[in-house]
Amino acid sequence: MAELLNVKELKKYFRHGEKNLKILKSVSIKVDEGEMLGVVGASGAGKSTLLHLVGGLDSPTKGSIFFKGKDITKFNSNQLAAYRAKEIGFVFQFHHLLPAFNAVENVMIPALIQRESRDKASKLSKDALELVGLKDRMTHKPGQLSGGEQQRVAIARAIVMEPSLLLADEPTGNLDSKTSGKINDLLFELNKKLDMTMLVVTHNIKLASLFARKVTMADGEIRGDESRD
Ligand SMILES: Nc1ncnc2c1ncn2[C@@H]1O[C@H](COP(=O)(O)OP(=O)(O)O)[C@@H](O)[C@H]1O
Ligand SMILES: [Mg+2]
Repeated sequence: MAELLNVKELKKYFRHGEKNLKILKSVSIKVDEGEMLGVVGASGAGKSTLLHLVGGLDSPTKGSIFFKGKDITKFNSNQLAAYRAKEIGFVFQFHHLLPAFNAVENVMIPALIQRESRDKASKLSKDALELVGLKDRMTHKPGQLSGGEQQRVAIARAIVMEPSLLLADEPTGNLDSKTSGKINDLLFELNKKLDMTMLVVTHNIKLASLFARKVTMADGEIRGDESRD
């Protein structure tokens, strides 16, 4: 399998008053195209920080992040913006949908940002919503959708431009267990159907047990990297 991501000795320090907080101490991890990883660890372990760095939302103190062979930590701000738009999809614990817009309009936004025509963006949006099982909810606004459906819209928005890497930060953290189970199933289905690489941070023990590869973080370090086949 071709390598998609190679994180090398990544460090992230935050200066906080007098203190220099070592949030990521030296994280190294390689991910192949099509792989789906579960990332687990106690609150404060550095999981979100790692996802933000890999997604180009923040820059590291030291270390490198090779994506398709290029070190994104060397990118200028235009290159980083293009990287985020073309290669990365983000799903967060809270859906962050725009309340005044319906499902199709919310999911169109990344396509419009990438300068697709309105017709094309609308078509891509509808396809993505169908893929996440929301064919019958296209014109609903977020307030007219259940929590699980809102999260499905957020997932559709993340995958509408078919990013190479989906970063999901506790995507089921705000959902009841039955709804979580369905969102989990959806993520695995998308990984299979679209061959999309995914890093999924989760506190959900049931979800964590489903991943073929599970990375455990503690105190800004990777403490375990287990694969089962
Ligand atoms: N901008 C920041 N400034 C100072 N400390 C931060 C900042 N962002 C995160 N932290 C600290 O980094 C640690 C790890 O945070 P985070 O990556 O969000 O952990 P996790 O997602 O595993 O719960 C936490 O202790 C948090 O308080
Ligand atoms: Mg977090």
